[in-house]
Amino acid sequence: MTRLVLTRPDDFHLHLRDGAMLTGIAPETARDFARAIIMPNLVPPVVTGAQAAAYRERIAAALPGADFTPLMTLYLTEDTDPADVVAAHRAGIVTAVKLYPAGATTNSASGVRDFDRVRPVFEAMAEAGVPLCVHGEVTTPEVDIFDREAVFIDTVLDPIRRTHPGLRVIMEHVTTADAVDYVKSADAGLGATITTHHLIINRNSILVGGMKPHYYCLPVAKREIHRVALLEAAISGDARFFLGTDSAPHSDDKKECDCCAAGCFTATNTMPVLAEVFERAGALDRLDAFCGHFGADFYGLARNPGTLVLERRDTPTAFPAKIETGAGPVTVFNPGFPVHWRVVA
Ligand code: DOR
Ligand code: ZN
Repeated sequence: MTRLVLTRPDDFHLHLRDGAMLTGIAPETARDFARAIIMPNLVPPVVTGAQAAAYRERIAAALPGADFTPLMTLYLTEDTDPADVVAAHRAGIVTAVKLYPAGATTNSASGVRDFDRVRPVFEAMAEAGVPLCVHGEVTTPEVDIFDREAVFIDTVLDPIRRTHPGLRVIMEHVTTADAVDYVKSADAGLGATITTHHLIINRNSILVGGMKPHYYCLPVAKREIHRVALLEAAISGDARFFLGTDSAPHSDDKKECDCCAAGCFTATNTMPVLAEVFERAGALDRLDAFCGHFGADFYGLARNPGTLVLERRDTPTAFPAKIETGAGPVTVFNPGFPVHWRVVA
């Protein structure tokens, strides 16, 4: 197959940042995607409906004339007002709420330490049908970073889901076979996003032959067996697994330094790279549902009416190595293999 006509895709997990970085990188997503779930971990975080509405305006201003809908989220804190969440959701300002365990990742200091304190919010969300997006890692210092997702499932996520059976939960950027198995074992109300980069890199990609800061993200990539489990889930046709790129730009000075920020920036080449990955896996016919159907269905949104057309050429596609922004250059994810697909319409 040399031409692929897809439903215009959605990105169910995206970091757009703010200010000059937002202006510089937002077009990279809006070019190919119709909608994206926008992460709220700004500094300071987006915690109220009013802040989400203002952030949505700034995103729209950064994308004049673009046919792109940002789906806003609220950053859950121990002080979140359940009534504000429900009102913002009813008003169509907010699509979901994001749970960051405090200290788990970039700008997560205001996240949740004591999960009992957010029970009233979960109750209100379950009642009103507001989905919860979860960064699934414990932050307990004694727990090895490669085990943090699996421990989170047992000690935090499963208890929350048992206490609030009506809560719809999306396990974001799953990185382990444990998470895939957990999602598959659930009766209903649990989905998972999978990133582009976690389908491609494993922990060797980060650490062997010199450390690669542009492959460092959170949750960190795991062993090869886990990458294979993610790929199998992505190409399986199981509607509980869908695309959320977690494209997370940091300027090069924040990546290539003593304490490298977590995040891979995949917005620029995600769709061609995914086409290559699915083609190599013999599953090109499953790409459309993974990027354009399952996530919308899970969130109860209409599938996008538009299309995205990709073409395969014998000559590998040349993507920019960096996107220049007013906040500095951002390195584009390098999949480490030639990509023959390109977006043509
Ligand atoms: O790698 C990551 N980068 N993981 C996250 O959870 C946050 C994100 C960011 O905001 O940079
Ligand atoms: Zn993220």
